[in-house]
Amino acid sequence: MKNSTVFDCKIIEFNKQSNNITIENKMDIPFDVKRIYYLFDVKNSSIRGEHAHKDLFQVIFGLNQGLKIKIDDGQNKKIINLNNSNQGLLIVPGIWRSLTEFFPESICLVLASELYSEEDYIRDYNEFLNFKK
Ligand code: TYD
Repeated sequence: MKNSTVFDCKIIEFNKQSNNITIENKMDIPFDVKRIYYLFDVKNSSIRGEHAHKDLFQVIFGLNQGLKIKIDDGQNKKIINLNNSNQGLLIVPGIWRSLTEFFPESICLVLASELYSEEDYIRDYNEFLNFKK
């Protein structure tokens, strides 16, 4: 998705029932979940992400104390504070993202539309800008 913009990325609000949240394939998110991974014990000074994906859709949660995500489509940038357990950020393909400001207990949970593939990553920012042209 070369033409995607940060405005295609949106916060999805999930149903909270007292203290649990259920996420069901296709009903709550717009893709089949093929992979789940999470980041924990990330130093506050660390910057994670710093890449874009060519075809991968993701929903990203900042659980416990949360984190910040900067998203960038090459023209527009947005900074989102993810610290609500019933909110996930849908990131569409073709968006550069950086994850910062982790707390000691923060967990970044990621639901992904595809299995891991290094070929799907763009890890160089100039290459990303070329991809978006
Ligand atoms: P990467 O996605 O590059 O970084 P970040 O967590 O900062 O967004 O992942 C870090 C390393 O882990 C990288 O070498 C690739 C590897 N990895 C897998 O093997 N499988 C996966 O599902 C993921 C997400 C990463």
